[in-house]
Order: sequence, then structure tokens, then C-alpha cells
Amino acid sequence: MNMAVKGELSLPGDKSISHRALMLATLGKKESIISNLSTGADVLSTRNCLKSCGIDIKDKNNSVIVKGGSFKDPESFLDCGNSGTTARMLIGLLAGQGINATFIGDNSLSSRPMQRILSPLSKMGLKTSSKTGKMPINIKQSSLKGIEYELPVPSAQVKSSILLAGLGASSKTSIIEKVKTRNHTELMLKSLGANIFYDGEKITISNSIDFNSLKIMVPGDPSTAAFFAAAASIIPGSYLILKNILVNPTRIVFFKILKRMGANIHFINRGKNAGELISDIHIQYAPLKPVKIEVTEIPGMIDEIPILAVIATQINGITEVHGAKELRFKECDRIEAICFNLNNMGAQVEQLDDGFIIKGSSTLNGSLIKTFHDHRIAMAFSIAGLISKGKTTLDNPNCADISFPEFHSVLQRIVK
Ligand code: S3P
Repeated sequence: MNMAVKGELSLPGDKSISHRALMLATLGKKESIISNLSTGADVLSTRNCLKSCGIDIKDKNNSVIVKGGSFKDPESFLDCGNSGTTARMLIGLLAGQGINATFIGDNSLSSRPMQRILSPLSKMGLKTSSKTGKMPINIKQSSLKGIEYELPVPSAQVKSSILLAGLGASSKTSIIEKVKTRNHTELMLKSLGANIFYDGEKITISNSIDFNSLKIMVPGDPSTAAFFAAAASIIPGSYLILKNILVNPTRIVFFKILKRMGANIHFINRGKNAGELISDIHIQYAPLKPVKIEVTEIPGMIDEIPILAVIATQINGITEVHGAKELRFKECDRIEAICFNLNNMGAQVEQLDDGFIIKGSSTLNGSLIKTFHDHRIAMAFSIAGLISKGKTTLDNPNCADISFPEFHSVLQRIVK
């Protein structure tokens, strides 16, 4: 096998920040300018839902212009597609803005748990209806009051949903977060002038009206970068430069673990934008060793676990992931999807209720990958396909469109 991955990549904007930029730009009185927005279908779902609520969003010279202003009740259902972030955050945002709306989603999103936001939002006084604690969900204009709420599961979507609802509540709202999750909502709200304060594990927000407009160049998505970094780390002769990647500490645990494994990775600081840290990441192939992954590290790399599992098959020794039951509630049951496909490829993997144990190294055999229509499974197993013996085919390669429609063409371009 002589091929390697080589080159320099600039990636579309981070998905989490793109959703938040579109949503929070609606609160400013003036126009906001967002560049390098994620090109994925999930962020398009957010954009379309906001437009249905009367928000003016237009493309102009490679940027997206959002005119803040008043929301109106949508005339039809708000279709969140496959996007949990759209559904959970938008329900909170629109609840705080006094909107009546019904949210729907695709089959995957309709099977994901929503009680985790409905329960705290109901405590705030939101009138909601849903048959089973899942989509479709209807919300009715309600007077919200603040609550103090300890997150039962570490989830940035739940935290953000409550914070956004808190913007329209009559008293202050506090969230207690024992295990830290991505903090983009807090950073962006602060940069827009919202009344938001942190005190250790407690985040407090109160009714805010005067928002600045947003001017942001969304940094490259580290969760997308992870697939390419993984390929460079496990294929001898590889060298990649990933330009202007978001390196917020709550998002780069995967890269820290790769480094602990012995990967040859360097970060070159490129400054800050709208409160978020940016770096170029240089990665060169180096042999890897197994490391211990702490349960508290899981939320900071939750979306990168499928690709971490692929890497683990190439390391001599045992890699264990525990405390990751949340993976079962993502776009598919990702623990099942990882173990099913790795097993088929001939890896030694044991499935656990809250993770898996992988014994490497194994030669992977090319196979037909069942993506479960999940973008991260499709991309992780495309990388597995690069190192497998024989042909690997995905049953639904297009599901990568959810976060990174250009994935397959970019991968083709860097395989040399
Ligand atoms: C996200 C939070 C995470 C992550 C998802 C994006 C966000 O979900 O898996 O892809 O933008 O806040 P949870 O909050 O459910 O952990």
C-alpha cells in the first residue's frame, strides 16, 4: 500500500458555530455578516426554519447577511430535517421569543430524545405538546420564568436551548454543568452583549434586549478536520496542513488524545474571532500507542468517537471507551454502528452498553458499510476504507452531506 494523504485544506465553517451564528444574528437590531458558514444540510435546516419565522437571510459575496428583527409565527411546520441542534436550540430560542410553532424532523430526528429539553422548558412555563417526548413538538406562546437547572446529561444542545429560552424569561436562569460541554453559545452571547455570567459550574443568563450585530468568519470545523487528521495519523508517509481550524478547548479533546497516542501534531496559532480560538493544524504520520481515555473527556470528543474507533484498530494494544452512552442517541445508535461495521471488517471489537473495547492492530477487510444514514459513520468508515484490504463501499455515501457535502471529493483530492 503506497498511498498516503497529503496537502493543505481549508474547511467549511464549524457546524455548531454556524447554527449559533444564524440563530443569534436574529437577535441583533442591525445586519449581521457571517462568512465561511457550514455548507452542510443541517445548517441549511436552521436557515430555512428561521426564514419561515420571518427572518431575512441572504447570500452576498460569499457571506450570509442576516437582518435581525422581529419573529413571526411560521405558517407551516418547521422542518429540522436530520438536525438535533436545529430542533433543540430553535425550540429554546423561539420559546424565548414568544412564538407558536410545530417542529418536525426526519425519521432519525423523530426517534431522538427531546424530553431532555421539554422538561426544563416546561419548568420555565413553556406550554408544549408532543405525544411521546419526541418530535413532532408543538410550542405555544407562554410567559417564561427563570429556573435553576442542573443538566442531568452533559449536552451543549440542552444547555443552549435553556439559555436561549432564558433570554425571554422574566427572571434569571441558571444552569449547573458538572461536566463541561462546548461553550460556543455562551461565548457568542457574551460577544453580542447578552447578560450572561459564569461562576464555576454555574452559568447565569437574564432577559437581554440590546444585542450587537454579529460579524464572524466561522473557523473550520474540527469535527470534520478529525477525519483527515485520522487518515494522516494512520497512513505512513502522510502529511496534512489543516488551515484555520476552531481550537476551542471544549472541542479539541480528540486532537489531544491523538497527541497522547504519539501523533505528530502541531498547532499554529491564528488568533481569535468572535471569542473563538483558531489554529492551523499540521499532522504527519507517526506510529501510535494506546492511551487511557477518561470518562470526563468524552463530551469534548463525542462526535469524533466513530473515527477514534477506526484509529484504535490500527494501534497495537487495547483502546477502551467508557461513559459514552450518549452515542446511542445520536443520528443513529453510533455504538452499534461502529461495532457492527468494525466487526464486518475483521477488527476485534467488544460492544459495551456505554462504549466499546478494541484490540489492535488488525488488518481491515474491505466490506459493504452500513452507514445507518449517519454522516459521521459514513466519513469514519470512508477513512477505514482507505486502509482496508480490498474494496470498501458505503450503502449511502451521500449522508455525509449533513455536515460536509464536499467530503468525498476532498478526500479523493488528498489521497496521493
Ligand atoms: C452539538 C452538541 C452535541 C454534538 C452535536 C452538536 C451542538 O450534541 O453531538 O453534533 O452544536 O451543540 P449534544 O449536545 O446532544 O451532546
